[in-house]
Amino acid sequence: MANANNLGLTPEQLARLTVVDHPLVQHKLSILRDEQTGTKQFRDLVRELALFEGYEATRDFGLEPMQVKTPLEECTCQHLAGKKVAIVPILRAGLGMVDGILDLIPAARVGHVGMERDPKTHEPHEYYCKLPPDVEQRTCLIVDPMLATGGSATAAIQYLRDAGVRDIRLLVLVAAPEGVRAVLDYDPDVRLYTCALDRELNDSAYILPGLGDAGDRIFGTR
Ligand code: PRP
Ligand code: URA
Repeated sequence: MANANNLGLTPEQLARLTVVDHPLVQHKLSILRDEQTGTKQFRDLVRELALFEGYEATRDFGLEPMQVKTPLEECTCQHLAGKKVAIVPILRAGLGMVDGILDLIPAARVGHVGMERDPKTHEPHEYYCKLPPDVEQRTCLIVDPMLATGGSATAAIQYLRDAGVRDIRLLVLVAAPEGVRAVLDYDPDVRLYTCALDRELNDSAYILPGLGDAGDRIFGTR
């Protein structure tokens, strides 16, 4: 596994990277990586890990006071200060993370960015995009389990920037050093959350040790 301090990132870039190292996250991720884990359990784990990661990625959301009457007395409590959120999965594999974030933020809108990597060049090919009409007013949580070369993620970030989105957070489950550097170099404001920093990419641009092809494992295709 890689160490965030050895990736050659600047202090400013390191501050935009969060590795979600909670013990429950690491436990669930180990099961996710196991080649013996079947489709149903894999899908459930992706959803659960997205929820944990969404919790970290929303930690700085603002609160405002509100009055609540308990059965005993009135008190001042806090509620979210009207933050509008869009979840943007990168198709296909990102779809597996959407419900976990919706469990946390049920009112979020969902946009879709369809990207498929060319198996030879590893370049992403865009095949479908649809965003909520007021997306520029929303905090966008791009979700995709895998950050390999970073080609798909940077294309999705550019698509959202072109749509006028200011606050973009990318949530992945497993990241390769190459992808982390690519994303943080590409966009000076994006924040990146990952549950693991893996060692490297192989010659086919698959993450090592990784978990294989996330889309195939979520949807039972191969
Ligand atoms: C995978 C994965 C990411 C991308 C990561 O998707 O879900 O979107 O590859 O690779 P990159 O960082 O090198 O761009 P894939 O293109 O295989 O499509 P799928 O989700 O439909 O399986
Ligand atoms: N896409 C995947 O699903 N897995 C990888 O390791 C790399 C890209």
